[in-house]
Amino acid sequence: MTGAGAPRAVLIGTMGAGKTTVGRLLAERLGVGFADTDELIEEQQGKAVQDIFVEDGEAAFRALERTTVARALEEQAGVLSLGGGAVLDPSTRSLLAAHQVVFLRVGLAEAVKRVGLGTGRPLLLGNVRARVKQLLDERTPIYAGLARITVDTDGREPAEIAAEIVTAL
Ligand code: S3P
Repeated sequence: MTGAGAPRAVLIGTMGAGKTTVGRLLAERLGVGFADTDELIEEQQGKAVQDIFVEDGEAAFRALERTTVARALEEQAGVLSLGGGAVLDPSTRSLLAAHQVVFLRVGLAEAVKRVGLGTGRPLLLGNVRARVKQLLDERTPIYAGLARITVDTDGREPAEIAAEIVTAL
């Protein structure tokens, strides 16, 4: 976290969109700090997101996510990446209206390739491809509706994506 003030850019998109990788690069290019809400939650709780899902349940994770995102949107002055499901919360969506929201768009094949099979993502247990498709179908309209900037990420390197965002900001 880098002091008080609104983030320069808030990255949204589904798992495998590259929010964390591109977010770090973008922050470097802009010369600002970077924070990822999943990492903030893990630091604060002292356990992995996957363990929070398994031990405490998704509802408990979403409650932690809501407060963590709200605080980060207020305090984080650099680049902020949100967990893929953060935008499901209506209060989070209304907070985002005041921010420079960047949607990293990814297609099904590429998202499945990027998340792989052995990840720590609890929502993907079972049939990875079917779950990713379902999440993309449900959430793409939400991401697109919130974004001021949309960047296609399929087949592109994180540095190229970050450069496009710098130009668009
Ligand atoms: C989730 C995405 C994950 C993490 C959690 C739930 C989701 O973050 O917050 O596993 O609902 O899409 P990433 O999008 O950074 O993988």
